Amino acid sequence: MTTTTAKGRIRTVDETAIDEAAEIIRNGGLVAFPTETVYGLGADATNDDAVAGIFAAKGRPRFNPLIVHFSDLDDIAAEVEMDARAEELGRAFWPGPLTLVLTRKPASRLSRLVSAGLDTVAVRLPAHRVAGKLIAAAGRPLAAPSANRSGDISPTSADHVARSLGDGPAMILDGGATKIGIESTVLDLTTATPTLLRPGAVTESEIARLIGALGDAPQNSGEGPEKSPGRQERHYAPSHPLRINVTAPAPGEALLAFGPSVPGGAEPTLNLSPSGDMVEAAANLFAMLHDLDAQAAAGIAAMPVPETGLGIAINDRLRRAAHAMPRASCDTSI
Ligand code: TXA
Ligand code: MG
Repeated sequence: MTTTTAKGRIRTVDETAIDEAAEIIRNGGLVAFPTETVYGLGADATNDDAVAGIFAAKGRPRFNPLIVHFSDLDDIAAEVEMDARAEELGRAFWPGPLTLVLTRKPASRLSRLVSAGLDTVAVRLPAHRVAGKLIAAAGRPLAAPSANRSGDISPTSADHVARSLGDGPAMILDGGATKIGIESTVLDLTTATPTLLRPGAVTESEIARLIGALGDAPQNSGEGPEKSPGRQERHYAPSHPLRINVTAPAPGEALLAFGPSVPGGAEPTLNLSPSGDMVEAAANLFAMLHDLDAQAAAGIAAMPVPETGLGIAINDRLRRAAHAMPRASCDTSI
């Protein structure tokens, strides 16, 4: 038995590391890898045991399905029904931060576990060189949720992965800080009117421009497989309470600031973007939440972020983090 520490599993990316990582995947193991959004915890999406390993390492409820990542568009069409809307969105946004929920083909080789009881699969072609190389070298699609314990803040660095998952992954490929910093947009195309299940860097208006207006996301019924399983609010939780849309932080609160006018006095204060740039703010969001959470005394206060463009996705994550219960009292069945 080896005693490699979580940090010892972090590998600088080179050809050898990619080949070893691909070998781990082919043998049914777990590898954390960078994408342009956040780090993913990858396993062979065609191997039931490997996919089960992801749920175990994350402590993820089995009813929450996984995104399957590809390096080639033709491979996607072999597993799911690509309708005209999917083709059009794929041409426009892939490789990139868009995930499409599509109907699974009867002949699909993908493990049923990735679908968590649904007849759909969420697919994505990530735009990160390391992700593309790893998938191609493994020679199979990778099931990969964000590489954090279920309910934790998503990881935007190899170090976040090591801290959250410990020795869950056999290897963590270090591609530096992720560029976008917020998980992909998730769009359900299995309904007559497409529905946005999670806002991200590809915005609702960019999607609507190509395929028309989107419908409201379905409400979970509480019975049977949930149509929209990742929408529970108890998500992305820092261990300290988080208040949002705060202009005057309370004594003892750490401050997640945004823009040029920042109230003084809060210690520590981190600014998502002093110039008010949304792209910079998204890239900093999870890393700053991680840092403030590690340093905060009484709690974290977040300043308002405008509800436009990427701000919609930023506010979605902040709202979920604010609604989350402290970890100690968190109902782990969710
Ligand atoms: O940017 C991302 O999407 C990252 C990187 C690693 O690709 N992945 C990620 O995966 O955020 P995860 O598992 O943390 O979030 C996937 C979301 C969940 O909310 C899940 O419920 C939803 O997508 N999802 C996956 N498959 C689905 C399906 N068949 N139907 C509906 N929702 C699905
Ligand atoms: Mg996640």
